[in-house]
Formats: sequence, C-alpha cells, structure tokens
Amino acid sequence: MTDPAPQAVDDRHAARLRADLARRLETGGHLRSPAWRAAVTAVSRHLFVPGFFRWTDSPRGTMWTPITPESTGVAAWLGEVYTDQTLVTQLDGGVHPADAREPVHGDPTSSSTLPSLVVRMLEDLDPHDGDRVLEVGTGTGYSTALLCHRLGGEHVTSIEYDPGAAERARAALTAAGYAPALVIGDGLLGHEANAPYDRLVATCSVRTVPSAWLRQVRPGGTILTTLSGWLHGSGLVRLTVGDDGTAEGRFLPGTVSFMIARPQAAPALSGLSDILNGPGDERPTRCGPEVMSDWTPQFVAQLAVPHAQYVGMSTDDGSMLDHVVDVSGKSFATLLPDGDGGFTVRQGGVTRLWDAVEEAVRTWQKAGSPPQTAFGLTVTPERQRVWIGDPGGPSWSLPA
Ligand SMILES: C[S@@+](CC[C@H](N)C(=O)[O-])C[C@H]1O[C@@H](n2cnc3c(N)ncnc32)[C@H](O)[C@@H]1O
Repeated sequence: MTDPAPQAVDDRHAARLRADLARRLETGGHLRSPAWRAAVTAVSRHLFVPGFFRWTDSPRGTMWTPITPESTGVAAWLGEVYTDQTLVTQLDGGVHPADAREPVHGDPTSSSTLPSLVVRMLEDLDPHDGDRVLEVGTGTGYSTALLCHRLGGEHVTSIEYDPGAAERARAALTAAGYAPALVIGDGLLGHEANAPYDRLVATCSVRTVPSAWLRQVRPGGTILTTLSGWLHGSGLVRLTVGDDGTAEGRFLPGTVSFMIARPQAAPALSGLSDILNGPGDERPTRCGPEVMSDWTPQFVAQLAVPHAQYVGMSTDDGSMLDHVVDVSGKSFATLLPDGDGGFTVRQGGVTRLWDAVEEAVRTWQKAGSPPQTAFGLTVTPERQRVWIGDPGGPSWSLPA
C-alpha cells in the first residue's frame, strides 16, 4: 500500500520551514558548507515523511501514535516534520502510519534520521563534484534526495533492504524530481553494477565492514558507517580504503547510532531461561551495569564479547536485572546487586563473558579511559581490528 499524497501544503510556508531548519542546523554547527546548506534549503522533508509514529510511554509499554496530516491536521504534522528529530516511519517491517488508526505497539524498522545527523554525516563524507556515492539504507529517501541535489541523481546509488520502504522512497524521490539509481536488496553486498564508488555512506549500522564495500569503493575513497553490535554499543567511523581489501580510519565525535543492518540483527533468544538458569559461579565485580549504558565502556564491552547480547529483564519484585547472553555459546553473565551498593556477577556456560568485559574495561582504563575519538579501525582481508590510540595500541577483533 502506498501512502496517500500529502494534503495540500503551502509552498511558501514549506520554503520558510526549510530555511528555518537550515538556519538551526547551521547555528548548531551541523551544517558547515554552502553546498549542503543549499540542499537542505531545497529538499522538502515533508515529501519523504507523509506520516510518522510518535513515541509514548504507557503502562502497556511503548506505544506509537500515528501522526499524519489526516490525523492531526496539516499544520501540526508539517511543524514536526521540520524539527530536528528522527521520525519513525515503519514498525515491524510493514506497519506504516497510514495503516494505523490508533496507537500501536511495535519495533521501529525504518525512519527518517534526524536532519542534524544526516547533514553532519554528509559533511563528514565530504563528496566532491562528480563523485559517485553509494548510500546503504535509503529509508524514506530524504538523505538520498540531499545527495542527489548536491551531486546529481546520476552520481547516486541507494540500496534499501525493505521493499515497502524502497517503493515509498522511490515515489517520494520521483515527486521531488530526483532520479538516483535505487536498488532493493542487501546493502551489505553493495551494488557491483555501479562500482567503483568514491564514497559510501551507511545509514544502518554494521558489526563488521562488509568485504563488498572494500571492493566497490576505489582506493583512496571513503566509507562512513556506524559500527554497532548486540550490546547496543555504537560509534561512527570514517575509513579510507586502501589497496587489496584494506581500509583504516578513526572514530568521529558524537554519540551516533543507527538501526543494525537487518541480516546482522541479533539472533532470537531461544532457550534463554535454560541458559540463565544453568549452572554458574558467582563473584564480586567492580564493573556494574553502568558498563552497559555509558557510551564508551558499552562499546568496549561489546568489542570484548561480540557474540553476546544485552538482555534487561524485570524480576517478580519489579526491579530490573541485567544479563549478557551468548545464545550460540550458551553462556551468560547476570549482574546482581550485593545489597551494599555494589554488584556480584553470576556466570556460566562455555565463556565467562563478564571476565572478558572486565578485562577489556580495565585495558581501556589503563589507556586513560579515552573517549571514542581515540579509537580507530584497521581492516585487512584477514581481520578487522578496533584499536585505541594507534594501530599498534590495545585492540580487539571484530566478529568474522
Ligand atoms: C535509519 S533508516 C535510513 C534513513 C534514511 N537515510 C533517511 O534519511 O530516511 C535505516 C534504513 O536502513 C535499512 N536497512 C537495514 N538493513 C539494510 C541492509 N542490509 N541493506 C540496505 N538497507 C538496510 C532499513 O530498512 C531502514 O530503512
């Protein structure tokens, strides 16, 4: 089902909203160059977001309220479309705002990323006139449209995994007057037919850098992507591609996260209660659950146990217990308050997951607890390594 055409929007009003948005993005330091300013001023975000879901907390859990011109009136919908926020446009891989008459449950599967992050990444990507760009994660098509405005549609290829989202993006891009190459498929495989690319930007995150990207971006070209994983650690990294499947670069500032590329999503937690109730041993730990919520330690923990996922579960008395679980290795670590303000950890299975997390956090602390901008990534055909300081510093391998 396609979205209904947005109800009549006054062109001059929309132009004012775009100009206001550009001004705010510039004042915030996100928009840094005239070329991208011109793109934000020209591209109508409302064509790409005919409806979105607004998040609300309720006793029944997170609910998503559909916001469309029909449900809230044109002015309210339009006003929000030009704010600097991420707008969720699809739930559970198929539910769209136009399909929902009332608040619904669901997990976000597509969105229009907040404009400040979109333009910040485009500035970081820094394509030059004539460059060919591959975008992974078309989503609504808004960022694709900005790329088309800057470079010309003939220089832009964009891949979307979800056929419904891709179809909507195609319609919106056509309505906006842009004609990039749009591909429905797995962006982790890139799109060989239009390679080589000078730049690749991903608006979904990856656990490891796909080898196809290294083959399809020319030596000297740039890959800009978030690296994430199953503990929800994340970081934006900019790589320069070398010869023969290599690349290297540093993590950029900011707390940037994106939904994980669909084929790399965490496996289902089958057999969870058997794993958690399996035999284990308990000991005091200096690392409590804050490791799972502080930006850089969370990233470090994920590097230490890349096959583990975070599971927060409420107990009978309503409190929350933090678990780290590796379903394939049937291993777990559960953090338990020790009643004295500290924690003990109960671990079992093949791998002592929390031992590995503690060791990695200690290594990071010994290096001076640096921010993520001190980290870098080296990719070779054999191995992908995140390091602290320089490529010879402490490092962890990404999952193969
Ligand atoms: C945050 S949204 C993209 C935002 C988009 N750039 C915009 O401005 O609207 C991430 C998108 O990545 C898509 N995605 C997830 N895994 C993918 C994959 N392996 N290949 C291509 N797209 C993928 C999702 O379906 C989703 O639409």
